[in-house]
Amino acid sequence: MGLHSRDPILLTPGPLTTSLETKAAMLRDWGSWDTAFNAVTANVRRRLLDVVDGHATHVCVPMQGSGTFSVEAAVNTTVPRDGHLLVLINGAYGKRLAKLAQMMGRRVSAFETADDVPTTAEDVDRLLAGDASVTHVALIHCETSTGILNPLPAIAATVARHGRRLVVDAMSSFGALPIDVSAMPIDTLIAASGKCIEGPPGMGFVIVRRSTLEGCEGRSSSLALDLYDQWAYMEKTTQWRYTPPTHVVVAFNAALEQFVAEGGQPARLARYTANGAALVAGMQALGLRAFLEPGIQAPIIYTFHAPADPAYEFRRFYAEVRDRGFVLYPGKLTQLETFRVGCIGAIGPSEMRQAVLAIGDALRAMGIRTVSPAVARAA
Ligand SMILES: Cc1ncc(COP(=O)(O)O)c(C=O)c1O
Repeated sequence: MGLHSRDPILLTPGPLTTSLETKAAMLRDWGSWDTAFNAVTANVRRRLLDVVDGHATHVCVPMQGSGTFSVEAAVNTTVPRDGHLLVLINGAYGKRLAKLAQMMGRRVSAFETADDVPTTAEDVDRLLAGDASVTHVALIHCETSTGILNPLPAIAATVARHGRRLVVDAMSSFGALPIDVSAMPIDTLIAASGKCIEGPPGMGFVIVRRSTLEGCEGRSSSLALDLYDQWAYMEKTTQWRYTPPTHVVVAFNAALEQFVAEGGQPARLARYTANGAALVAGMQALGLRAFLEPGIQAPIIYTFHAPADPAYEFRRFYAEVRDRGFVLYPGKLTQLETFRVGCIGAIGPSEMRQAVLAIGDALRAMGIRTVSPAVARAA
């Protein structure tokens, strides 16, 4: 145990460190029928559409649960039962999307590249030209399992040129990276409260083209995750269909207010970019090497090669760094020993520099001399 009882700073991709104002918003109780609470829900929905300039064409449907619940709801409601979904995969979240679509009985094709290779618009062009039966394409914008950025604008344009529909998992990019549904042809966009808007976890949301959702009645095979029903009920009553996560909704609303006050998406991207730069510079000085090339890295979460030293063991490393006030994230690669460091949340570059000091100190405490990785960067 460390000497301090205060919370560690979370360098994880959600739950993440939230501001005091966001935490304080959770200190009140709300009734789900209360008009004041339902006005907060309406505010959240409006503000989320503001972020992607979606008011003219799209609607925002919040959904209880973690991000995956919203991905399931979106796929199950917007992809027809006889649809054919092409999933573009370069990490665990792409695999998860393909799996859940398959479990719902949708026809699924997967196009998989290595963890450090983005899908390109040329790949998508070739795949769609070769298979006229594909109706929908699913893309993970920032694949959080490594932090790799897939080229959303070019892929969206290609999917639209082929007359197919695009489902985007923007879970870890929404609010930080530019997404404009008035300019990019995106049918369905999914994210959650506890990511780059910096709210607590507990609800997701789907921003979906109004004309698409209007045609989705009765399509979902799940009662709880029926996005059409959730939307229709909310439009009719202003209320959530089933028990809302009230404290999460009001805290998310507070986080959205702070997001706007900070300067919206460009300001958030600037802060996360500064966080990432401080992190990478500090880690390089320690001898730790990033897994991805800088050109394909999103400033959200970074994967680092683990030190080659036999004294390295992630659990001990995690505990040592945590005792120094920072929570890291394990790697998600099967072939390589890695760990991840998130740079999103209510933190700035000075917290990142302190995190690097804590990491260096932890490595010394573990007696690690060989900090550089055993394995060369995966090609
Ligand atoms: C890209 C992506 N998709 C989906 C999810 C949803 O995961 P969960 O249900 O654990 O919130 C996450 C969470 O980190 C994510 O980063």
